[in-house]
Amino acid sequence: MNPYFCTLNWLKIKTFLNQIIHDKLPKHIAVIMDGNGRWAKEKNRPRVFGHKNGVTAVREVTEACAELGVSYLTLYAFSQENWNRPKFEVNALMSLLVETLSKEVRTLNKNNIRLEAIGELDKLPQKTHLALKKGIIDTQSNDRMTLVLALNYSSRKEIIQASKDVVRDIKAGHLTEDQLDEDVFSTYLETKKYPDPELLIRTSGEQRISNYLLWQIAYAELYFTKVFWPDFRKENLYEAIVDFQSRERRFGKISEQLV
Ligand code: IPE
Ligand code: IPE
Ligand code: MG
Repeated sequence: MNPYFCTLNWLKIKTFLNQIIHDKLPKHIAVIMDGNGRWAKEKNRPRVFGHKNGVTAVREVTEACAELGVSYLTLYAFSQENWNRPKFEVNALMSLLVETLSKEVRTLNKNNIRLEAIGELDKLPQKTHLALKKGIIDTQSNDRMTLVLALNYSSRKEIIQASKDVVRDIKAGHLTEDQLDEDVFSTYLETKKYPDPELLIRTSGEQRISNYLLWQIAYAELYFTKVFWPDFRKENLYEAIVDFQSRERRFGKISEQLV
């Protein structure tokens, strides 16, 4: 990059960073990383080229969240609906996951970041599942931030599974119908260890949820940006957080009640 644009970019990053109020940071940010295919298409390259370049954005956002002090970052990496893509693309994504996981674990450890995952992990190809399990074990004692990958994830399936587990526990006498409330139900979800995300970011201009954390985002602030995922950088994250912090979260109340 030429030095003029470099300085300009640096100033842009600083401007957003300086606006962030550190004691009003979201504890948990969830991201729908979208637009890899369109990013590649714009460049007349195959879709997989977009997925490969999306790894840079994963690295940037993970690092930025850890530096800021965000406790949980959940990234939507592969939905159950994504199995319906051409086999070639699915295979490429699964291989890219193996490659990325084995390369990035060292950086995660250096940055004291723990890796975890949600989704039907045992239904992933064996190599991907093993790479993931290894990444999780190798980073399990890190405690600065938790990076959660949603892999082979379906929010509706998660809710159905939770409901079945609730029924099983009621039948077994471990839980009564009266005890079942929102907090208790949350403990049956795969995300039981994490607070609900306060901020959900989706890149690429699409404005939908695509079966992601449906229960958990009941009161999340939604932030949509046209930026394609492979172009998403720290400054884009800062911009989303500044936007989040400018919003009034009323949780059903009126402004005057929020002091
Ligand atoms: C997101 O980018 C990555 C995954 C869903 C795995 P896409 O591959 O959905 O890219 P677009 O939406 O087709 O541009
Ligand atoms: C959602 O993106 C899934 C991931 C980001 C992994 P998609 O690109 O698959 O979503 P739809 O199908 O366009 O809603
Ligand atoms: Mg997409």
